[in-house]
This record gives sequence, structure tokens and C-alpha cells, in this order.
Amino acid sequence: MSEVTIRCRVDGPYVVEGPVRVTDAEGNPFPLDYSKKPAIALCRCGHSRQRPFCDGSHRHNGFQSAEQAPAESG
Ligand code: FES
Repeated sequence: MSEVTIRCRVDGPYVVEGPVRVTDAEGNPFPLDYSKKPAIALCRCGHSRQRPFCDGSHRHNGFQSAEQAPAESG
């Protein structure tokens, strides 16, 4: 099984790195071509016109978010 990473971009989308399936509410998959793009960006600001994918609209609507994971303890 390959590993998937979801990166929270500062003031931006969730960037999903690794092969995943994204489906609508009925389970129908959105077409994704990993040969062209190794990652996908999922909208979390709610303003994209291409939801569930980010279209860059977050840059113009004042969306702010900067989650930080807790530091790992040794
Ligand atoms: S996060 Fe980019 S358009 Fe919503």
C-alpha cells in the first residue's frame, strides 16, 4: 500500500500527495490523471468553482488558516 500525505497549505487548500480516489456523495469517482500531476489540491475555503478541487479562489476571498501539528516529543 502506498503512503498518502495530506499537507495543509497556509491560507490554502489541502494538498494530497499520493494516489487516491476522490468520489462524489454517490461514490462516483472524479477523473484524476496522476501522470500529469502527482498531487491534487482540495478546496477548504468553500469558494472554488471546481469543488472539491481548489481553483485558486482562496487567494481572493481572505481565507486564513495555518494549522500546525504538535511538535513530536522524543
Ligand atoms: S482552498 Fe483554494 S479555492 Fe478554496
